[in-house]
Amino acid sequence: MNSKAAPLRDEFPLLAAAPELRYLDSAATAQIHRSALDAVVRHETTRRANVLRGTYRLAEAADIAYAQARQTAARFLNAGSTDEIIFTSGATASLNLVAHAFGNTLKAGDRVLISLAEHHSNFVPWQMLRERTGIELNFIPVTSGGELDLVALPRLIDARTRLVAVTQCSNVTGAWTDVAAIVAAAREVGARVLLDGAQGVQHGPQDVQALGVDFYAFSGHKCFGPGGVGVLWGRGELLAKLPPFLTGGGMIASVTPQATTWALPPQRFEAGTPPIAQAVGLAAALDWMMTLDWQQIHARESRLCELLIEGLQRIPTLRLLGPAPSAARAPIVSFEISGLHPHDICQVLDAHQLALRGGHHCAQPLLAALGVEACTRASIALYNDESDVLALLDGLTFALKELR
Ligand code: ALA
Repeated sequence: MNSKAAPLRDEFPLLAAAPELRYLDSAATAQIHRSALDAVVRHETTRRANVLRGTYRLAEAADIAYAQARQTAARFLNAGSTDEIIFTSGATASLNLVAHAFGNTLKAGDRVLISLAEHHSNFVPWQMLRERTGIELNFIPVTSGGELDLVALPRLIDARTRLVAVTQCSNVTGAWTDVAAIVAAAREVGARVLLDGAQGVQHGPQDVQALGVDFYAFSGHKCFGPGGVGVLWGRGELLAKLPPFLTGGGMIASVTPQATTWALPPQRFEAGTPPIAQAVGLAAALDWMMTLDWQQIHARESRLCELLIEGLQRIPTLRLLGPAPSAARAPIVSFEISGLHPHDICQVLDAHQLALRGGHHCAQPLLAALGVEACTRASIALYNDESDVLALLDGLTFALKELR
């Protein structure tokens, strides 16, 4: 096999059907793997029924498929129990769930610590909580390379800090967070840790027990599964003590005109009809991911990332954002080109079949800290190859001529 060609591209129906497409926006949405798509179709055409409600055979088959999806997600995360897996509509819903359920246990004066590198979905919910409850919100600053500046941690964390909520990996710079350092500092003061794994999951199975965090949130569409589904993992003993966020069918123990009592987790946090077929499709994607050689994939992705960075460094007036090229980073590379708007760059690239995201990437505080309003981002995944990177470098040369 040609080591330069992505061995997996043909396993992705959209990419297989569009050989000319250079898809470099997997940090926004990764393409769906064939196994996940097939699982959704199989479920919808053979087992479609609501779950945890019906007693007929079709509904029982749906119950079994949904329970198996939960088991698969638990294996993918190395969760202590399947009851620690809550299906949501995506990472944003998972993060909002924590901001409400855990947030409702906080009082004025308690502190929540986030970072300036957060995606808005792990930023705005905490500002809203501050408005609702009077908590104090503190921010870990970032270095000039967009990494969390952990030198500041000791002065930002104290006995009033109840939660540290940070990204596992920046969606703008690809910088990995030093989770062990965050967890160690949080444990010293008895604070809980929420990790936003939206950008982490695409890079392989996770071990929440080894990470040592208390909550982990991710979306299915970022890890080769369908859209509209995500997971919140939480420690069992912690979930058991939390009130629900959304309320309605499926999350109660009993309802009377006077009062309602809650079901045990995970049902307590899954009000209404969950994304059943999507969870089944997600499980198929996770099952597939668990068969891959991630060391080999990371080595390949790093080589592509280096090739891209080397090429970008040769473009005059281009400023690379993010950590030093040698730092531990996911294959996400953002840059600005003086005088050119990222939307214009992306449009020219699109004409060359290159799909990239340009803008603020839902991370305005990070961009402000880096001194830019918007940037262009290339995100590489396991189905990309050297030809995608070279096409991007050619496309940028063309964009520079076209737009200047
Ligand atoms: N969070 C996604 C991104 O970074 C949508 O593009």
